[in-house]
Amino acid sequence: MKIVIANESHFKYAEVICDTIAESARVRGTGIAKRTPEYVQKRLQNGNAVIALDGDKFAGFCYIEVWGHEKFVANSGLIVHPDYRNQGLAKMIKKEIFELSRKKFPNAKIFGITTGLAVMKMNYELGYKPVTFSELTNDPEFWKGCQTCKNFDILTRTEQKMCLCTGMLYDPSLNTKEKEKEKEKVNSKTFTRLKSIKESLFLKKKTTS
Ligand SMILES: CC(C)(COP(=O)(O)OP(=O)(O)OC[C@H]1O[C@@H](n2cnc3c(N)ncnc32)[C@H](O)[C@@H]1OP(=O)(O)O)[C@@H](O)C(=O)NCCC(=O)NCCS
Repeated sequence: MKIVIANESHFKYAEVICDTIAESARVRGTGIAKRTPEYVQKRLQNGNAVIALDGDKFAGFCYIEVWGHEKFVANSGLIVHPDYRNQGLAKMIKKEIFELSRKKFPNAKIFGITTGLAVMKMNYELGYKPVTFSELTNDPEFWKGCQTCKNFDILTRTEQKMCLCTGMLYDPSLNTKEKEKEKEKVNSKTFTRLKSIKESLFLKKKTTS
């Protein structure tokens, strides 16, 4: 299995990517923004997508979409072919596309909207936090993508405030600070624990000896 940054040589996979996305949404009974092969080909072409291939066979895909003049990017369209699920492939693809996003758009906030528990779990592990839609891009082009989702009426009714999808956001500025804080927390916690282990060990020994 290889996971590579996509290019024009992968155009032939555009159709199977669209079909797999549409069929998976049908099976799950959830809404999904519809993608055409032309739409996918554009993403394959601009170096903003990764594709997983098992030899010549399509195994998985995900792409970066840029919104609000590069203030935001989304990692969208994650799909793993049913033949390759539950082997950790989505996790690898997510990691690749996340790293590519950080490299190409280091100052952009990375976000996604999803109804999928698997995606929520993977996003959380990468440092995303659940947020209300007000924290996401207000670029109308992004929200237009929801028009082909079967739950679009909910989004319209709530004036784009909420829907069945959960919004998740990785904020690079916040995450650096947060990571430092987290490190401090972990260190102090570890230190306290170590101290109490030592105390119980040594103090006990002292009293029994
Ligand atoms: C969702 C999907 C991408 C997962 O692909 P995968 O390669 O099977 O996922 P992985 O094996 O890498 O698993 C990643 C994590 O998600 C969990 N997971 C996978 N499928 C899951 C499911 N259906 N429900 C809940 N958790 C799931 C795994 O247990 C794993 O978590 P862990 O590390 O805590 O064990 C794949 O099932 C798919 O393409 N589904 C249809 C399209 C879709 O739902 N895309 C997301 C649209 S927002």
